[in-house]
Amino acid sequence: MSHRRLFVTAALPYANGHFHIGHIMEYIQADVWVRTQRLLGHEVHFVGADDVHGAPIMIAAEKAGKTPQQFVAEIVAGRAQYLDGFHIRFDNWHSTDAPENHALAQSIYLALKAAGLIELRTIEQFYDPVKGMFLPDRYIKGQCPHCGAPDQYGDACEACGAVYSPTELRNPTSTLSGATPELRQSQHLFFKLSDPRCVQFLEEWTSTPGRLQPEVVNKVREWFTVGDDGRVGLSDWDISRDAPYFGIEIPDAPGKYFYVWLDAPIGYLASLKNHFDKGQAASHWHPPSRTTQSFEEFIADPAVEQIHFIGKDIAYFHTLFWPAMLHFAGRKTPTHVFVHGFITVSGAKMSKSRGTGIDPLRYLKLGLNPEWLRYYLAAKLNPRVEDVDFNPDDFVARVNSDLVGKYVNIAARAAGFISKRFDGRLGAISPDGEALLDTLQSALPAVAELWAEREYGKAVREIMQLADRVNAYVDTNKPWELAKQPELQERLHDVCTTCIEAFRVLTAMLKPVLPATAERVEAFLRCAPLDFANAGQPLGAGHTIAPYQHLMQRVDAQALQALFEPPAPPNPPMVPASGGDTAAATPGGEPIAPTITIDDFAKVDLRIARIVACERVEGSTKLLRLTLDVGEGRTRNVFSGIASAYAPEQLVGKLTVLVANLAPRKMKFGLSEGMVLAASHADGAAHPGLYILEPHPGAEPGMRVR
Ligand code: MSP
Ligand code: ZN
Repeated sequence: MSHRRLFVTAALPYANGHFHIGHIMEYIQADVWVRTQRLLGHEVHFVGADDVHGAPIMIAAEKAGKTPQQFVAEIVAGRAQYLDGFHIRFDNWHSTDAPENHALAQSIYLALKAAGLIELRTIEQFYDPVKGMFLPDRYIKGQCPHCGAPDQYGDACEACGAVYSPTELRNPTSTLSGATPELRQSQHLFFKLSDPRCVQFLEEWTSTPGRLQPEVVNKVREWFTVGDDGRVGLSDWDISRDAPYFGIEIPDAPGKYFYVWLDAPIGYLASLKNHFDKGQAASHWHPPSRTTQSFEEFIADPAVEQIHFIGKDIAYFHTLFWPAMLHFAGRKTPTHVFVHGFITVSGAKMSKSRGTGIDPLRYLKLGLNPEWLRYYLAAKLNPRVEDVDFNPDDFVARVNSDLVGKYVNIAARAAGFISKRFDGRLGAISPDGEALLDTLQSALPAVAELWAEREYGKAVREIMQLADRVNAYVDTNKPWELAKQPELQERLHDVCTTCIEAFRVLTAMLKPVLPATAERVEAFLRCAPLDFANAGQPLGAGHTIAPYQHLMQRVDAQALQALFEPPAPPNPPMVPASGGDTAAATPGGEPIAPTITIDDFAKVDLRIARIVACERVEGSTKLLRLTLDVGEGRTRNVFSGIASAYAPEQLVGKLTVLVANLAPRKMKFGLSEGMVLAASHADGAAHPGLYILEPHPGAEPGMRVR
């Protein structure tokens, strides 16, 4: 196979939050691919960086009383523990605010300008006179121009679903200062994607066979709009922002900065350049490179393949803006953009900004094995843009019965005999053992190919089928019975040796996913680091192995459960001593309501309900959709504003209390047939926390609460 030269990236995470499970999934997908390429002997440079620019980070930093640089530094400092923890091995990690990125962004921009693709235009935008800045849409709130609902964002109404522009809002206010924004004119720079050259280039680039996944090509087709004149086109792209902005200054436009999405992908190149400039590039692949090239020489080599792993939400940027920028700046364009779906947890969507579901750091801190997650996600991933669900029961089953029960078990069954009976020495192998090993060795290239094609689920299934065959061989030959018969010692040696050799091949196959285990197996087998070429050669009779130490524990379902328990709620706020009287009159922040009679109360029909399903509501940050069993022989659909306090999977299966005779309410997302009860303080800002009710054990769905 010819030697490939690969430049591989994963999306650059915004530096305004720690990694969530979606980031980790993407990195694991990319890392497995990169390790595969290395095990095949190819040259790979795998780089990442923090995406630090933009208004949200600038504003968050200001709220925290920090400079943007200080603010992101704290997030960045936390990166390594996640990456190391999950064995995600980037060759370099950099920042979009690094000098390399400033220089590259400016030079790419100037090249686009020289190509006649940059245009200055005057636009009208809301301006916050108190803050002294133009406002991004998400920082403007007002009344919906369609239904009048208060407190709606500048782009869409959560109550009626209408989509509009911020200038249409009634009584708009800036969420940053509370001031009424003014419409002001400003000059912005645009990248002319509508230019026929761009359209023609992108049509060709996106339809190059094998470059993009078929479903991505279809999406891209939708993004090319057909104008009134029947011509296919793209909208021009606003690439500048006015000061104050945390970003890269535009060389010939003082006070103007590149929009974050202009410099973010250039950060891929900046990180690669930094990697080469540090002189690490030659040593970071296997076998080491003979020539030390510069970044510019490397990236200009037509043989170098540029590959980006990203999620489906940012495909637009990577399949239109990014290749166009690179092409018209005279640079190499991506060879492939590999798009993955989103990870959901027990079927529930995860919020991009808040994460939820599974906290990767909590996973590590609970002592859960990072390779379990790598294996589990690999088992579920494929090359299509499909969402992947993390399901705890499935996780336990896959890890325990496949990984431990099938793979690790092979070594566990054979190694003890080799150590105790044969001084750790391997023996000769009979024809039946050879036949089994042949099967495994000849499957190696196909398995490597599946990894390389991102058919991870298929690769895992294939490897487990091979492990099944090895276990069947053990079951047929019963080494524990051979061990009892002194005249069959040679056969025992033969069978156990076959198992050890087979285990070595399976370990090589799993190495992209289980790098740490593979390393321990190499120590146990006293063999050179395994790769896809040397895995075909047996250790051979007479080779000694080290005493076996257990390679991997089973998942304890209980320990996994701890991953889903909500973190302990903050301590209840103390009532100040001086305010004692007031506090007593307003328990929980509000006075007790006027007295009612028992008949008044009897009108309210409270019932025990079982939460049989629960999910986030797309388009709402507040609501969860609950499917409740109230013992009526059907389920009810209820929306509840508790998304800030509970992840859906925490609630599934729990009992709670429902107001069962509340008039049904039609909401934008559907009909709500009742209301679940939750406790909260009247002043939610000062005393956050929302707690749903749960009956003592024994209560059953349908029972009335009186
Ligand atoms: N900063 C931009 C990317 C710039 S690339 C030049 C960004 N950052 S992000 O932190 O929001 O997302 C980083 C990556 O994580 C993206 O590829 C995104 O698709 C991915 N994911 C975010 N949530 C995800 C899931 N729930 N599941 C899987 N991947 C997800 O976008
Ligand atoms: Zn509305």
